[in-house]
Parts: sequence; C-alpha cells; structure tokens
Amino acid sequence: MSDISLFPRHSAVDADGALSIGGVSVSALVGEYGTPLFIYDEQHLRETCREAVAAFGSDNVIYASKAFLCVAMARLAHEEGLLIDVATGGELFVALTAGVPASSCVLHGNNKSDDELRTALEAGVRHIVVDSFGEIERIEKLVSSGLPIPRVQLRITPGVHVHTHEYVSTGQDDSKFGFNLNNGDAHRAVERARSSSAMQLVGIHCHIGSNVFDVDNFEDAWKVMVDLFLPLELPEITMGGGLGVAYTTRDTAPTIEQWASVLSRVTTRLPAGTKVYVEPGRSIVAAAGVTAYSVGTVKDIDGIRRYVSVDGGMSDNPRPMMYGSEYEVFDSNNMLAARTSSARIVGKHCESGDILILDAQVTPDIAIGDVLVMPVTGAYGYSMASNYNKVPRPGVVFVGQGQSRLVVRRETLEDLVRLDQ
Ligand code: LLP
Repeated sequence: MSDISLFPRHSAVDADGALSIGGVSVSALVGEYGTPLFIYDEQHLRETCREAVAAFGSDNVIYASKAFLCVAMARLAHEEGLLIDVATGGELFVALTAGVPASSCVLHGNNKSDDELRTALEAGVRHIVVDSFGEIERIEKLVSSGLPIPRVQLRITPGVHVHTHEYVSTGQDDSKFGFNLNNGDAHRAVERARSSSAMQLVGIHCHIGSNVFDVDNFEDAWKVMVDLFLPLELPEITMGGGLGVAYTTRDTAPTIEQWASVLSRVTTRLPAGTKVYVEPGRSIVAAAGVTAYSVGTVKDIDGIRRYVSVDGGMSDNPRPMMYGSEYEVFDSNNMLAARTSSARIVGKHCESGDILILDAQVTPDIAIGDVLVMPVTGAYGYSMASNYNKVPRPGVVFVGQGQSRLVVRRETLEDLVRLDQ
C-alpha cells in the first residue's frame, strides 16, 4: 500500500484502495465538485493552528495569509486565535470581509500604496510593518491629513543567508525587503521612526526566507535580531515565518514544536514581558491540502518516457516551474497498488515547461479517467493560481467528519470575461 504520510492527517484508505479525506471519499468529492479540486482537511487546519498557538502562546501567532486565503480560511484562523498577516490591500479586504477585526490584522508589503496604507489606518490594523524610508514619509503625510497614528514595526534585513530557493530567500543584504542592518539603515530607520510624531514605534521584524528546513538558520538570524533589539528597549519583536514542510517522502521537516524550541532558546535573553510574534504560513496549511486532478491523456514515447496529462497544471500550481519544487502523486482509487512505473506529470497549458512532476512514480496501469491526488498543495497553490490559457481556477472544498463544504466555487467560463468591457 502507498505510504500516506504526506496526506492530510484525517485521511484513510479503505479495503478497496480508495482514498478518503476527512471521512469523505475523494471519488465522491470529485463526483460532486469536479476536477481539478483543492481539498482541505479542516480538522488538520485547525490542529496546526492550535499547535502553533500552544507552542508560541495565544495572540503571538500571525498567520501569513499569502499561503492560502479565502473567507473561510481567514475565519478559521481567526476562530483558532491566530492574527492575520496581510501583505496587500487585497488580503486585508478578504480578512475584513471574513469578519476578522482589523485589530487582528498586521499589514506588510515592500511597496504599500497610499490607498493600502489609508485603508489600514482607517480600519485600525494592529500594526504596520514598515519596509522603507519612503513609507515612513507616506505614513506621516496620511497622518497629517487626519488619519490615526499607527503602531509600527520596522522590517529589518539581518544579512543572513538561508538554505532555500533564491526566490524565497529574504534575509540577505541584497534584498528588496526592509532596512539593511549591515549598512546602518536599520539603526537610521529606528531613529527616524522614533522621532516621528506620526507613528508609534513598537518593535522590529524580520523574515529570513521561506521553506527553510535547517532550524540553525533561524537561530543565526534570530540571534542577530535579539542583539539588535536589546539596546533599543522596544516592547515587541517579530521573527517571521519560513518553516519548511515535507513535500515528498524523502523530505524531513522540523515540527512547529521544534521550531518553537529554537525560538525559546534565543528569546531567553529578552526582558520579561517582551512580545514575540511569529508569522507561519506554509507550515499551517501546506499538508492540510491536496489537489485532485483527472488524467486526460497518457502518452508513451518508446525508450524515452511516459507523459501523463492532467486537467490543471501551472495555473493551479506554478511552484514546480518557479522553484523546481518536487511533489508526489497517487491514484486516489488505487492506493493499494505499488507505484512502480515512472511518468512525467504535466498540465494542460501550452508550454513544455508546464510540468507538475518531472519524474513521478505511478502505478503501471495508470489510465485516462484516473483521479490523481497530489498531496501537500495547501500552501501557495490556490493563492498563486492564475487563469493562464483562460483555464478557470479550481474550486476549494473543506472536508471533515464525513461532510464537505464548498468554500470557493470553481470559476465558470463567464468568470473569464467578467472584467472585459
Ligand atoms: N512573513 C513574511 C513577511 C513573509 O514574506 C512570508 C512569506 C511569511 C511570513 C510566511 O512564510 P512561510 O511560513 O509561508 O514560509 N511562493 C513561495 C513562498 C513565498 C513566501 C513569501 N513570504 C513558495 O511557494 O514557496
């Protein structure tokens, strides 16, 4: 039988080899909602939220909503006691639409527009993570026009390299994000914000990168942040997100608890009462979600390879193309069979690079009509989905206790022209 350790926690395989998630069979879900389909195990989502709150303390965990955001997810994170990191006015809008109070939202972004800042100030977000000197000036202008004075943290680039893909590494000196520590900008920004009557400087912030597997990388960066923080005598520090997750059975990722224990080692040097925030995204949602696809074409090129085409691709998961990310795939109705054959899993887009898995292990009898399930697509899948080739974006369902509920409907063809004038 296939190893189902990559699947959401409440997954099971029955005696016939059929996969269920949250007590609902994948074939029933596909029958009802079609493919491609994002399926989230709601209980798993709630459990990871609770684990983060238990590990870091309530009111200290800010869910990085860029990983996966819709009204239902914002509500769930809020219900479980997480704050919400919004990186744009769009993410803020979704969180507020979900009923999350602005005081539970934190605004990020390296290029916030005046409109985004104005909305955040009017709504009263918990704090704004300020990214540049220009942003300080723009906040001053908005406050001088009568808007409320915000609490702010300053995003610092601590000058550390982490072991992850270059595109998701953010803590090094050469970065578009934040105030550089090594060239003195960080200290200048602290002085600048402190002397401004248009903002209340409450803390500093860092985020060193994403999908980081080596907890020593966090420890190195966090030590630098603590050294910077101590003489500033500020009340708050945010240590970012970035904890990696296992995408294939070859990966081993640290748990949220292990990540928290590294943090607690570093933060013992902080004065009692210092508020320490973290901002996990991927580690909250990635493994709780899977994507179900239907196989539409199987093509064998003798002596070269087998191509298996599914009804989605780079439009619902650009990660393999963007970062070379690896995944595995399983036949949801044939989980007992060994995956002894290899195939390239490709999407339906007009690009040779539209590859989901370069070299997948599949069952030898894989055939048209099979429903393949790709685990660990809960983070940065739906949130990075596009309409390339005018492919409607998939629906999203939450499952649990034998029930399913559609939380984002599948786009229709009409949706594809709704913006056209
Ligand atoms: N905080 C800040 C300021 C961030 O920029 C990010 C992610 C996070 C927290 C959450 O990081 P996480 O815990 O999810 O690793 N699209 C890429 C990931 C981009 C991450 C951007 N920032 C991917 O699919 O791997």
